[in-house]
Amino acid sequence: MTQPYRSAEIRQAFIEFFQSKQHTHVPSASLIPHNDPTLLFTNAGMNQFKDCFLGIDKRDYTRAVTAQKCVRAGGKHNDLDNVGYTARHHTFFEMLGNFSFGDYFKKDAIAYAWEFLTSKDWLGLDPNRLYVTVYETDDEAYDHWHKDIGLPAERIIRIGDNKGAPYASDNFWAMGDTGPCGPCSEVFFDHGEEVEGGLPGTPEEDGDRYIEVWNCVFMQFNRQKDGTMEPLPAPSVDTGMGLERISAIIQGVHSNYEIDTFVYLIEAAAKILGIENQGQASLKVIADHIRAVSFLIADGVTPSNEGRGYVLRRIIRRAVRHGNKLGAETSFFHQMVTPLVKEMGDAYPQLVELQSKIEETIEKEETQFAKTLAQGLRLLSTELDALNEGDVLSGEAAFKLYDTYGFPADLTADIAREHGIRIDEEGFEVHMEAQRQRARDAGKFDVDYSSVISTESPTEFLGYEQMQDDETTVIGVYHEGNSVSQLNEGEEGVLVLDRTPFYAEGGGQAGEIGEIRTQTGVFSVQDTKKSGQTIIHHGIVNVGQIEQQQIAEAQVFSSIRAASARNHSATHLLHAALRQVLGEGVQQKGSLVTSDVLRFDFSHDSPVSREQLNRIERIVNEQIQANEPARIEHMNIDEAMKKGAMALFGEKYGDTVRVLSMGTHQYKDGVDIPFSIELCGGLHVHRTGDIGFFKITTESGIAAGIRRIEALTGMGALKYVQQGDEQLSQLAGQLKAKRPEIAERVQSLSDKQRELEKELERLNQKLASSQASSLVNEVQTIAGHQAVIASVSGIDGKGIRPLIDDLKSKLPDTIIVLVGEKSEQLALAASVSKSLSKQVKAGDIIRYLAQELGGKGGGKPEYAQGGAPASDKLPNVLQTLPNWLEAQLTNS
Ligand code: SER
Repeated sequence: MTQPYRSAEIRQAFIEFFQSKQHTHVPSASLIPHNDPTLLFTNAGMNQFKDCFLGIDKRDYTRAVTAQKCVRAGGKHNDLDNVGYTARHHTFFEMLGNFSFGDYFKKDAIAYAWEFLTSKDWLGLDPNRLYVTVYETDDEAYDHWHKDIGLPAERIIRIGDNKGAPYASDNFWAMGDTGPCGPCSEVFFDHGEEVEGGLPGTPEEDGDRYIEVWNCVFMQFNRQKDGTMEPLPAPSVDTGMGLERISAIIQGVHSNYEIDTFVYLIEAAAKILGIENQGQASLKVIADHIRAVSFLIADGVTPSNEGRGYVLRRIIRRAVRHGNKLGAETSFFHQMVTPLVKEMGDAYPQLVELQSKIEETIEKEETQFAKTLAQGLRLLSTELDALNEGDVLSGEAAFKLYDTYGFPADLTADIAREHGIRIDEEGFEVHMEAQRQRARDAGKFDVDYSSVISTESPTEFLGYEQMQDDETTVIGVYHEGNSVSQLNEGEEGVLVLDRTPFYAEGGGQAGEIGEIRTQTGVFSVQDTKKSGQTIIHHGIVNVGQIEQQQIAEAQVFSSIRAASARNHSATHLLHAALRQVLGEGVQQKGSLVTSDVLRFDFSHDSPVSREQLNRIERIVNEQIQANEPARIEHMNIDEAMKKGAMALFGEKYGDTVRVLSMGTHQYKDGVDIPFSIELCGGLHVHRTGDIGFFKITTESGIAAGIRRIEALTGMGALKYVQQGDEQLSQLAGQLKAKRPEIAERVQSLSDKQRELEKELERLNQKLASSQASSLVNEVQTIAGHQAVIASVSGIDGKGIRPLIDDLKSKLPDTIIVLVGEKSEQLALAASVSKSLSKQVKAGDIIRYLAQELGGKGGGKPEYAQGGAPASDKLPNVLQTLPNWLEAQLTNS
């Protein structure tokens, strides 16, 4: 074969090579790790196989090959700050990997890596340009390289714990603080003398000459929270080779940003921005960030202020700012999606499918940020101008930029760094108190239960057929996280049975409640979850005690089970109805099914109208009334997809899947198309009629482009409708109207109310003008000029002007100062005739009053108005006014 050259060809060659070594090609998992609370984003090929290494997930293969999307921004393994400044850091990259789950180990892993890299049939690299490292004490790996491969000793480097703690080493790989880990062996490529840098282990190792291309991890341990290393059930292999790095080597360039994919994206960025590509770092940042951003959005992340959404927001804002640096005046970043789709859409069809959604999400975020970007940059540049290189920007300034202008701290730090200035991170942290709490919440990726409970075999699940089992065995008893021999009355804990009718929370369906009884006690089951393949029952011992190895009766509360099943099946019907009414663009974004309610989140850009909701309800209820059986089949995943079964994008499915079809059938070209067909492991009704009745209660937006529908079924739905009915009857009673007349009656009441308000207003005016007539009698003389100074009640800012005009017509050439009092507010107004206004200005009178009364106001020389809160000081202030006026009039 011709040797691969383009990135796409290298990706393909890697997969084919390992397929030829009996590896199963497994598709890339989602960037959002499912069922792994310890991880922010998928950051390595092995993430989706974590449970396989731990021995709690068994697949029907023991060798796998993947090209995995990875994001390293935020959390452990964070490269965001380096992007644009080094030749090889990315927020998003693709990792090529081969895996063995208790199958081959070091010898074969090393041999495969060597063959793929050097064989003329594959990459054909010059062996003389390759070096390897091994973990210091790993003689086994050393010997394979030296004796089996024949690599000379001077090209095998041992690296120990070079990062200050046991197992903290470049040659010991760990996914996170807990979980599978092990020693590793890395392959390095020598880019040649003309590039600066030293071999691994030397002080110059960070240079660009010797570049790590492939990391082969020999998975051997499961690191616990307390740091202990438990051996894995079987030694395994996890390797990772960055596609961008190996492409750089094959394409003979020194920077990842010079490979085909990036050359294309960088050129596209320059074109969109209307500038010439002169290798600006900002172009690289934009080219890198569009990949991370688009793939994250495609996998369901939306920009927000916490957790994953905040990382996405930071990446978008960083890209926008770099565009701004290159002179972008309008939003540009979303235009990068088209070139990205052209470059990577073949390998990742979800980019094509979701292109417009990705573009809209980015555009919305960039438009929002653009509003404050310029102002924030101005403030920042004023701050930076006042500092010298080597100085520190105050935490307060960084916080203000964050809080008022939406500048993430790392963006501010990024800009400051360009001026040789650091930001006071500690000071920033102090100001971030409130936001820090949010960040902590988002970072609550704690250890999951699987490391505490480990059982050899999966729990046998009986729940699809039955709700009760009389002869199961208690095989695990846990209290406060530890295994114990028995659980006593009043104690909370966890039980594991060898088989159980209890469904464990999963696929959006909540866990179940019920009872587990043994000869000596009763355990009330309050929730059920899954830990690996083990079903765990959380609850409390109500009577007696429960002991290890006892025979037990397990009973799920049937009415609750039936209610959950109704809600779950209705969710499937709702999903299908939504697609009928709103279009195929509707994608499931999450769901929650309990015995009380069902909730369904889906992608859709605008609120669903009342009329559409009615149609959806009608369609679902028609399906319920059709009373068709719900059909469960097990089939091959490809076959299920061919039948059009809905699956959750990015969800892990085995090769054989459980497929649920419901509702009426249509036959097209002899093919049976059920109303709803989905992959699902949950509990469902037998016939759609069991759902009884379906009623939507709310529809709302929960994030950009994501809507949520909540609904009820069966008796719950009936109760909801009855309550609404009851409220309507009450209303009809109070309005003394028949129900169909309610709306009309409410309308006429509100019309009447408006009329009454107008009438009241008219009366107030009348009252005011009669007050005005009496004010005519209150004329006083100040420095030889006529003046009226008075307060009037029931008059606000709107009513005071006509009053003044009225008085003015009766008393020309008079200084008129009125203060209206209404609803705890004072309305101030002053009028001065044209001739007098040379001596005292209406605006000055109002300013004087406002100042004395703690309000504000002003206006022209002849007329001015203001306001102040109601105040006890008013009589006094009005009393001082003649003196003040006198002073003005005599001084002028
Ligand atoms: N897990 C290892 C890494 O990420 C090898 O795949 O480098």
